[in-house]
Amino acid sequence: MDSLRVGLVGFGTVGAGVAEILVNHKQRLAARSGKSIQLVRAAVRNPSKRESPLLQGVALSADGLDVARDPNVDVVLELIGGLEPARQIVRTALENGKHVVTANKALLCEHGEELFAAAKKAGRTIAFEAAVAGGVPIIHVLGQSMAANQITEIQAIINGTSNYILTEMFRNGASYGDAVRRAQEIGYAESDPSMDVQGTDAAQKLGLLTQLAYGTRVTPDRFLVQGIDTLELADLRYADMLGYAVKLVATAKLVAGRLEMHTQPTLVRKDDPLAKVEGANNVISLTGDILGETWFSGMGAGREATASAVVADVIDLAVGRAQLTFGHLDLWGNRPKFELQPAEEIVR
Ligand code: HSE
Repeated sequence: MDSLRVGLVGFGTVGAGVAEILVNHKQRLAARSGKSIQLVRAAVRNPSKRESPLLQGVALSADGLDVARDPNVDVVLELIGGLEPARQIVRTALENGKHVVTANKALLCEHGEELFAAAKKAGRTIAFEAAVAGGVPIIHVLGQSMAANQITEIQAIINGTSNYILTEMFRNGASYGDAVRRAQEIGYAESDPSMDVQGTDAAQKLGLLTQLAYGTRVTPDRFLVQGIDTLELADLRYADMLGYAVKLVATAKLVAGRLEMHTQPTLVRKDDPLAKVEGANNVISLTGDILGETWFSGMGAGREATASAVVADVIDLAVGRAQLTFGHLDLWGNRPKFELQPAEEIVR
């Protein structure tokens, strides 16, 4: 049986979850991909984590660039997050002829243009289903299943941490600070949780969905982004008395031919599906001009959900599917672009 040699960069919550699947489900992955998928190399910064039984027999180093340059690696999994050195590692991996799988929405939102151009030049693929909504396969839906449609509206809860905090405060009476700490402990929050609670993480994910749905590249500095960090329990209780839940909602919709975007705490009627999403779950409503409105929901953050999506991308690369799926996404602006409506002109 042919093999696919995997190099892992990062052994935090998601990296360790991915290693666990690669090591513990070898036979299942071989049956599904027709290849022996082997974890051969890993970059692990924390010395105590290098002792993990999951990394036995795996060549280790501290620097992700070693993995990106290793001639024995076919696919590099970038799971360290953040912009640098992630950008350099992904670029180097592509230039050294490797495919890349990443869960890094910040990286793709900020440097996607450069990195997808580098992938195209190298004839390699960047697979990133895990970058938006964790285990919910929303990139595939936009790229494949709804490809006959023009998307007219996206409405989404796509930051698991914020939704978890709101749920903990409202349902269990947790203080804001305690709920943030718990989200960090469970592994939902980014290493800098201000990315979650200030709305940046959701806005970056919305930027990626917008690129796919509308062909328009939008970074969070170009639209209204507010987080849940100024909310108090009293706000949630008053909203409840009036028949509403408070949710961090990311929206990108076409209004009179222009793209209107915002990410902000929103009053949602209690009978709306968005209001029923609890904990770290995510939900995305996509409206297509042919299909109409369709909902997608599931676990959007954390070790298992994200690792599941990363490993699915690895299997798809082994089979040759990811090269087709991700290679045909509209990341180079082939479709008509919609102009972004300036935030100050949006009347609600
Ligand atoms: N911090 C992110 C969230 C992780 O809470 O949704 C998944 O992207």
